[in-house]
Amino acid sequence: MDFFLDSTDLEEIKRLNNLGIIDGLTTNPSLIYKAKTPFEKLIKNICSEIKGPVSVETVAESSSKMINQGVRLSKMAKNIVVKLPMTWEGIKACVELSKININTNVTLCFSTSQAILAAKAGATYVSPFIGRLDDANLDGVQLIREIKQIYSNFNYETKILAASIRTKNHVSQSAIAGADVATIPPKVFDTLVNHNLTDQGLDIFNSDWNKSGQKIL
Ligand code: E4P
Repeated sequence: MDFFLDSTDLEEIKRLNNLGIIDGLTTNPSLIYKAKTPFEKLIKNICSEIKGPVSVETVAESSSKMINQGVRLSKMAKNIVVKLPMTWEGIKACVELSKININTNVTLCFSTSQAILAAKAGATYVSPFIGRLDDANLDGVQLIREIKQIYSNFNYETKILAASIRTKNHVSQSAIAGADVATIPPKVFDTLVNHNLTDQGLDIFNSDWNKSGQKIL
């Protein structure tokens, strides 16, 4: 499974990218708003830190405007993935951008029928929002399972990018359900390593080692 960061916080991005296991990143207009940095500068800084795919969203209603924005965004850095909303206009824009080999991510996916549309439009990624489905008392991970089944029935190449992740359980359940990518907010990312039995085990190993009087060269 690929790990993307879901963030526009450059300090956090750098801190976590230092681990060496971050494969890409996603942004959205709300995260851009939070960053309070000029848009182009922010995206260029993120793209020089993160070498893998970086999703940046269009903010137009018509497919023609989305296509123009998508082409402009794709020129900002070579690893840009153009994010498009799950609307008919977004689907049309996805078809056109795919034809000219611009990578796309169809976002705000909440159903299997929407995921089929993204695949048929040639999207590089589809983003099911599992946390927002759970918030609405629905089952986000079940949606990932169903999309995975459909995509493998038809050999669709669109990658499933589990988004709106709220917990480390969302990450592991998405992996079990077959998501290709999980995009994870830094706060959730930090929790992935935690387990109380690891902490307890480490305390015991350290204390026994200290009592042993041994040395490693
Ligand atoms: C994904 O690309 C989105 O930016 C994101 O995961 C949305 O998450 P939220 O539901 O926590 O806003």
